[in-house]
Amino acid sequence: MATCVKLSTGALMPALGLGTWKSPPEKVRHAVMAAIDAGYRHIDGAYAYGNEHEVGTAIRQKIQQGVVKREDLFVVSKLWCTFHEKSMVKVGCQKTLDALKLDYLDMYLIHWPVGFKAGDKLIPLDENGHAIRSNSNILETWEGMEELMDASLVKAIGISNFNHAQVEAILNKPGLKYKPATNQISCNGENETCTGVPPPSRPCYPGRETHHPDLSSELSHHHGTVELDLLPTIRNPYAILPTVQALSVLHFLASDLFQITVECHPYLTQVKLVEYCQSKGIAVTAYSPLGSPDRSSAKPEDPCLLDDPSIKRIAAKYKKTSAQVLLRFQIQRNIIVIPKSVTPHRIKENFQIFDFKLTQDEMDTILNLNRNWRSCDMEICRNQEDYPFAAEF
Ligand SMILES: NC(=O)c1ccc[n+]([C@@H]2O[C@H](COP(=O)([O-])OP(=O)(O)OC[C@H]3O[C@@H](n4cnc5c(N)ncnc54)[C@H](OP(=O)(O)O)[C@@H]3O)[C@@H](O)[C@H]2O)c1
Repeated sequence: MATCVKLSTGALMPALGLGTWKSPPEKVRHAVMAAIDAGYRHIDGAYAYGNEHEVGTAIRQKIQQGVVKREDLFVVSKLWCTFHEKSMVKVGCQKTLDALKLDYLDMYLIHWPVGFKAGDKLIPLDENGHAIRSNSNILETWEGMEELMDASLVKAIGISNFNHAQVEAILNKPGLKYKPATNQISCNGENETCTGVPPPSRPCYPGRETHHPDLSSELSHHHGTVELDLLPTIRNPYAILPTVQALSVLHFLASDLFQITVECHPYLTQVKLVEYCQSKGIAVTAYSPLGSPDRSSAKPEDPCLLDDPSIKRIAAKYKKTSAQVLLRFQIQRNIIVIPKSVTPHRIKENFQIFDFKLTQDEMDTILNLNRNWRSCDMEICRNQEDYPFAAEF
């Protein structure tokens, strides 16, 4: 098992998952099976990806083969924009559960903060090519998500593509039922005393020195080797939790039932949004961590992260690939990461990121590559007032 993030439910969310957007239905089944064989336990999917039936078939097959149990897996899906009305949220979730052939999801996210007109079209467009929105209100959509929690259809809920103000709107919602915890505990794998305000991109929080009641059971559940020089300060009891993968940087983060998934990579480092979310106890997941080179909207003049000279130089030093450096970079920021691949050898390669560690200088070099470049900008929603990417963060 890879390094995990611990949610307040007690669930462990693996910090590395398999992305499935753009994975063709005829390939995604093999990709998910190859990923599970390689050790992945976290699968990131969505209704909008149009392949949940095949993802579910792969999961079922691996369970039937005895390779994993359902409870070993962390399955994430997302509520699509045409299901934002409160009464539709359960309908959207149930469609995903049926396709996946599961009776619960480990995490369910609101995919996008703008609701679209309900109906069969994934993206209903007006005559100008703009998405037709629904009358839904994101706070009511959130209430629908909370109802899924109460109905035990999902074990945790979160959001995706929300900007700082939209996250704050949820946090400040009157009567919010599932609040993010403020006692987040987080380590960046370095020997430092973590009290006080976290410095940018190196979050650590007060309270981490207190004993956690689950610690002894955690210790008995995790076996493996820990490289001592990678241990965070021993004052933190979490720091002595061994992870199964040798040399893994310990990454243990107690968050509540709350999670945000945003585009994040060296050309869009999202420093402010990450800092804000982590300070609120919201676990952050980075999507398109390799720059999404297979996206249909790619233009020839777009930058290519995998070919970035700085990334390639760092990769050569560790005898790793650019992809592995890009993924490792996020893990060391305490960010969950979900690379997509349908290629078995890349699926394995992307999992081999727990046996090396970038120096702080290298982390800074990579952070300095930021140019606020987005691969996924949802252009069709740009005219909407709640389009999330117009704000600074
Ligand atoms: N919440 C959201 O709104 C949202 C938006 C976008 C993405 N996501 C999630 O995040 C996941 C990842 O993002 P993404 O799919 O946009 O892009 P990505 O993971 O950044 O890049 C995927 C591309 O990189 C290639 N690749 C994978 N591993 C590689 C390696 N080791 N070396 C070289 N190339 C490699 C893949 O090729 P092959 O497949 O051909 O191997 C594919 O072309 C998605 O699949 C989805 O699950 C969420």
